[in-house]
Amino acid sequence: MRIPKRLAELGKKRIAPFPVEGFVYGEGPQQCKMMLVGEAPGETEIHNGIPFSGRAGKELMNFLKRAGVSREEVYITSAVRSRPYRWGEKKTRTGDMVRRKYNRPPTAKEILAHAPLLDYEIKHVQAPIIVTLGNVGLRRLAGPDKKVSEVHGRFIKQPVRCLKDPEGTSFTWTEKDYVIFPTFHPAAIFYNRSLLDLIHQDMDKLKAFMREFAGE
Ligand code: URA
Repeated sequence: MRIPKRLAELGKKRIAPFPVEGFVYGEGPQQCKMMLVGEAPGETEIHNGIPFSGRAGKELMNFLKRAGVSREEVYITSAVRSRPYRWGEKKTRTGDMVRRKYNRPPTAKEILAHAPLLDYEIKHVQAPIIVTLGNVGLRRLAGPDKKVSEVHGRFIKQPVRCLKDPEGTSFTWTEKDYVIFPTFHPAAIFYNRSLLDLIHQDMDKLKAFMREFAGE
C-alpha cells in the first residue's frame, strides 16, 4: 500500500522548514501480519527508497525471522519519512577534517510535521498488531510518558495518538483501540548488545500472538 501522492506532498511541505532530507514511503501489503513503526530513515534508506535497508534493517530482518514472518508479510513505516541530520566533522585517512551529515533522532516538530502520513497508514493498513521499534514510534502512538525499557514485550490495547485533521498541529486520540506491541529499535543493540536477549523474548511472544491470531 502507498499513501496518496497529495498526502506525501503535504508531508513534504510540512517538514520543509526542518533540517531533513529525502523521502521514503512506507512499504508492505495493506492486509499484513503486523505493522512496524520505526523512527526515521537513515542515509541508506534515502538513497534507495527502501525502509530499513541499512545496518539496522539487517538486524530487523533477523528479528522478523525469529518472529516467524517475512518482510513481504509486514508493513514497514516510521514516525518521520525523511532523514533528520546534523552537520558534524570527520577526520579522513589523510588527517583532513571534512564536514558531513550525521543521523539524529527526529524532533517533536518533525514528528508532528509527518503525523498525517502515519495517521493515514494506521487508518488504512489492516494489521492485527502494531509493533513500535524504540521510543520514538512508541511515544508517537501511545503517548509521551511511555518508555520502551518499561513496556516492551507487552500487548497494550488502547487508542493511538493522531491529528484532529491532516492540517492539524496537535495530537488527540483515535476512537478505536489498537493493539500496540513495543520493542526496542534494532539499532539499540549496536550500543547495548545485552538487549538482544530481551528482543528475542519479545519476538517469541509476537510469534505466539500471531499463531493464536491465525487460529493455529
Ligand atoms: N530506522 C528507522 O526507523 N527507519 C528506517 O527506515 C531505518 C532506520
